[in-house]
Amino acid sequence: KALKLIVTGGAGYVGSVCAARLLEAGHEVVVVDDLSTGHADAVPDGARFVEGDAADATAGLLAEGFDGVLHFAATSLVGESMQDPGKYWRGNVFTAIRLLDAMREHGTPRLVFSSTAATYGEPERSPIPETAPTMPTNTYGASKLAIDHAITSYARAHGLAAMSLRYFNVAGAYGRYGERHTVETHLIPLVLQVATGHREQIQIFGDDYPTEDGTAIRDYIHVSDLADAHLLALQHAERGVHRIYNLGNGTGFSVRQVIEACREVTGHAIPAAVAPRREGDPAILVAASDRAREELGWKPERTDLYGIVADAWRFTQERAQA
Ligand code: UFG
Repeated sequence: KALKLIVTGGAGYVGSVCAARLLEAGHEVVVVDDLSTGHADAVPDGARFVEGDAADATAGLLAEGFDGVLHFAATSLVGESMQDPGKYWRGNVFTAIRLLDAMREHGTPRLVFSSTAATYGEPERSPIPETAPTMPTNTYGASKLAIDHAITSYARAHGLAAMSLRYFNVAGAYGRYGERHTVETHLIPLVLQVATGHREQIQIFGDDYPTEDGTAIRDYIHVSDLADAHLLALQHAERGVHRIYNLGNGTGFSVRQVIEACREVTGHAIPAAVAPRREGDPAILVAASDRAREELGWKPERTDLYGIVADAWRFTQERAQA
């Protein structure tokens, strides 16, 4: 059944890809984005666009009657969250609470929320299941965890059908939608900036981790597989219940392996230099996504690291020509 949905943060990376996929699936989409980090031209064709705050603008729309909200809008820089925590407690947590209150007031039935692997902190074991202890090591992760707790209690008390999706390392691109942060901190886009000549070299943050090649290991998941999970989450959401799912491929790649994949895909040498560890970076973050596979019927299809990098590279080159 076609749903009428609000997508906050739909001008951002993951939000724009998900909005595009929702439209393709026949849903009606209104994108709400304040364009603080998003781009107006990333809002998918066919979506109505309202520029504004994720809580205030959404609250203004909800009276029209919506089947659900997908809440992507957030600030997500780990380093910044330690320097300016208020920005994360206000911008992420307070905004989410105001959004939950507006949804309650208007009886909006469904919520899909972008949570993060950062809610787990330094994991005790790998891969990480949803039952792992949540001990975030940074304010960004803590802010997302606080929202997850709020959603649990709103779902229970007010009958909200809620899903939190904990993303591991999202990468790749989908059609004309991809990663284009003004302040880029993510590994793959930074390595590709070296390939395009916009950056001289890539720094490897630490090569003394307890891993095979000494560099940190992450679970890279294709943004299009991530979008699939959002569509499935919407279908499976149940009133009064808040479910949490980890989204990753279950395979980890080291920083060196990612750089090597980028060299092969781009054909560029990509000089790399070892630098000190980045504060708060866990050695290994790999998802156990069995719950999403079993309960949502989710099957990630673009799990090959080279394929993920190739899609990001195609997007980067197309942007450079545009
Ligand atoms: N890295 C480098 N050099 C760089 C950039 C990154 O070596 O120039 C390394 C990082 O130290 C890390 C890996 O590459 O080991 C991946 O780093 P990213 O910044 O791409 O991603 P993170 O794993 O740090 O971050 C992701 C999400 C965050 C989330 C975090 C959970 O993007 O939103 O996982 O810890 F908070």
